[in-house]
Amino acid sequence: MNRDGQDACLKIKNDQMKLFDVYPRFDVEIEKADGVYLWDKQNRKYLDLYGGHGVISIGHTHPVYTAILKKQLDKMVFYSNSVYLPIQEKFAEKLTEFSGYKDYSLFMCNSGAEANENALKLASFHTGKKKVIAFKGSFHGRTSAALAVTDNQKISAPINRDGFLVCFLDLNRLDQFNQAVKGNDVCGVIVEGIQGVGGLDAPSISFLKQISKICRQKGILLILDEIQSGYGRTGKFFAHQFAGIKPDIITMAKGMGNGFPMGGLLIQPEIKSWHGMLGTTFGGNPLACAAGLAVLEVMKQDNLLENVSEINRYLIDELKEIPEVKQIKGKGLMLGVAFDFPIREMRKELLYQHQILTGSSSNPNLLRILPPLSITRKQILEFPIALKNVLSGLTRNKQI
Ligand SMILES: Cc1ncc(COP(=O)(O)O)c(C=O)c1O
Repeated sequence: MNRDGQDACLKIKNDQMKLFDVYPRFDVEIEKADGVYLWDKQNRKYLDLYGGHGVISIGHTHPVYTAILKKQLDKMVFYSNSVYLPIQEKFAEKLTEFSGYKDYSLFMCNSGAEANENALKLASFHTGKKKVIAFKGSFHGRTSAALAVTDNQKISAPINRDGFLVCFLDLNRLDQFNQAVKGNDVCGVIVEGIQGVGGLDAPSISFLKQISKICRQKGILLILDEIQSGYGRTGKFFAHQFAGIKPDIITMAKGMGNGFPMGGLLIQPEIKSWHGMLGTTFGGNPLACAAGLAVLEVMKQDNLLENVSEINRYLIDELKEIPEVKQIKGKGLMLGVAFDFPIREMRKELLYQHQILTGSSSNPNLLRILPPLSITRKQILEFPIALKNVLSGLTRNKQI
């Protein structure tokens, strides 16, 4: 999308291969980043309230992160899982400290979809069954099983259809859930800690507690997709920890590597592994582990979980003062700001007039906010100030 609202042409020369054009892009060319800011080719500075789909957890190019990555780069970039890699154990030790999942095991992969793909496979291996319960509004990725449990027909190709037994339920409807598990044919239930792409709806604490109990009774594996809602984004390490439940499998990615591609699964101890059961060439590579270690190191050193809760309270207080804001959804720094009109124009104004990058979701009236967890009060305050300014302009021009 360019500054006039047209789809921007990719800036390519005639004698060069094109990028496969699948992304609607804003008309900005980002060249560098630091903390919560991005800079474009013209050296204009942007406030990043989107973190590149919620990936940037500790802030862009944090000096501790880049130093640890550079050191590992000089030492060793890659070896496969055919040998022991001590840095994997070091990462697992650190992740235990943060997540509290001492008796679980860790499987590392490269992306969110791959994490969910493996989680669903494990549920089927473990139970010998194949029906999965997912929820309306879900997004779990674009690969085969992950896509099958994603509630979006539009991104599903003919090859993806009809191969999986999936039952989509309304979130927080225990009656539907009880009905769906009656047949004793369900291997797993997959649910996001908070729905990201779907528009910030979440399973309630009581719903999570109830389904966790039913899953345990029936031998169904509960898979918590914490790919977006995890890694401190809500103020707890995982969003499901607000409910005090322990899922069977937790999937992670996004904030885990702060931009270095990295995903993972935490797997409860009753699920037994065997050689060849899961596998990956790149998953758990030393450079990814170094990125993962750096993220956790900075989270601790900079007290990022406390910062998330503090900034959440501050921002909500500010947003509540704006009459056009009809609802604030989500937790911590995974927030949806709801209006009673489409936010498309507002997002463009925020970007092109105020240099603030925000996110959207499948709800056209909802702005999605996923800033780096390191953002300060002074930095986030730029957002409500700009929002008020944009809203008054839109009202003047009768666009809302
Ligand atoms: C909740 C959730 N699960 C899974 C994914 C897929 O992750 P990836 O794009 O790394 O495959 C996403 C991506 O947005 C997500 O938000």
